[in-house]
Amino acid sequence: MASSSNAQWSSRWAFIMAAVGSAVGLGNIWKFPYEAGQGGGGAFVLVYLLFVFAIGMPVLIAELSLGRRGQLSPIGSMRKIAEAERKNSMWQLIGWSGVIGSFIVLSFYSVIGGWTISYMVDAATGAFTNIDKEGAGALFGSLLANEWLAIFWHAVFMGITIFIVARGVEGGLEKAVTVLMPALFVLLIVLVIYSAITADFGAALSFLFTPDFSKLTFDTVLQALGQSFFSLSLALGSIMTYGAYLTRDVNIGKSAAIIASADTGVAVLAGLAIFPIVFAYGLDLGQGPGLIFATLPIAFGQMPGGAIVGTLFFGLLVVAAVTSAISLLEPSVSYLEEKTGKDRRKIAIIMGIVIFIVGIASSLSQGDNWVSTLKIGGYDILGIKDFLTNNIMMPIGGMFTALFVGWFVSRKSMMDELAMEDSSFRVWYFLVRFVCPVAIAAVFISIMFL
Ligand code: PFF
Repeated sequence: MASSSNAQWSSRWAFIMAAVGSAVGLGNIWKFPYEAGQGGGGAFVLVYLLFVFAIGMPVLIAELSLGRRGQLSPIGSMRKIAEAERKNSMWQLIGWSGVIGSFIVLSFYSVIGGWTISYMVDAATGAFTNIDKEGAGALFGSLLANEWLAIFWHAVFMGITIFIVARGVEGGLEKAVTVLMPALFVLLIVLVIYSAITADFGAALSFLFTPDFSKLTFDTVLQALGQSFFSLSLALGSIMTYGAYLTRDVNIGKSAAIIASADTGVAVLAGLAIFPIVFAYGLDLGQGPGLIFATLPIAFGQMPGGAIVGTLFFGLLVVAAVTSAISLLEPSVSYLEEKTGKDRRKIAIIMGIVIFIVGIASSLSQGDNWVSTLKIGGYDILGIKDFLTNNIMMPIGGMFTALFVGWFVSRKSMMDELAMEDSSFRVWYFLVRFVCPVAIAAVFISIMFL
């Protein structure tokens, strides 16, 4: 992939793998299960699936086409297209919100990325062997309490991300992703089978797939909406930037369907791997961000060959997180590269270090110190960043993106860009013009007034 702003993917497959690499990450395996746990299970999952396909996928198609049409950073592309369509240059704010949002997200995403590296090392060194519920809780607690260690792994995670973005991600990353993404998928299936045989699969199935709408609140609906955007990497400039490296012969509609299905498949598999363990061991469903770190070690600690499977699993999770983190660093790097004309490597290193430093507060907020006592509305620093991006910037950014392509870019430009069959185009156009903006606005209005 790109090492300069006019770079292009080497093939359609390379693009799909990089986009799936961006979409599949901590959002699927770390975030989706704990949000489903907190959101009451089935009803959250159902609403989430609806949002992915009725709102997320149309916006994914919109962002890829805006990127390919603009051929620049998200800010540059939005400005250029607004100009070409003779519309207000304020539309570039969508690009700004994406670049700033991706900066904020990466400043906490990299902290969780660091935890996964730490867990990979724990798995490899046998720390999970015969661990029980209390032991798993204590292991996670000791990582959080050991602030320097958490910051060290956070730094390692950012270091890897910077290294890849600085080099430009050509052959190496493209090749790695094409092998490692399918490997993660296979390993998740192995884990699901293990959980199904040894833990409480029935309880997990009914929790995840029997909707109990009485548990659904407007807040959980907003959470599900934000999560559908987060998981598909939308509204943060990442997908638009990847769209800018896309050649004209790639069919955007079909690619989006593949990306959304792979992403959703991984999230559901992660739920099916984790919840049987949660039920079998009586773990706390609603415990939040610590969920996978408190559950999976128990399974790995007891299964035969668990040290190897555990190391592989957390190793692949690190890879999945890094391929997402790359796409989070890319928007600001591509913007600064475009703006300053300076060397990509220098920009990637500087931006990466700044994000790491900003991220230290997110890391400390999870420990036991004065930073962790700083709270607004019950949220610590990491929680505030997550809430602000996931529940506010992403849905609003997505709404304006849909409004822009649906009402402000000419229908002909979009038809040219998408080259879809007539009937599919009509469905997509209806979704971005009406369904996406109205549904997103409705969720917000209900929260404010109900
Ligand atoms: N989609 C990634 C995940 O699910 O982990 C996270 C992410 C990457 C969100 C890139 C947003 C983004 F722009």
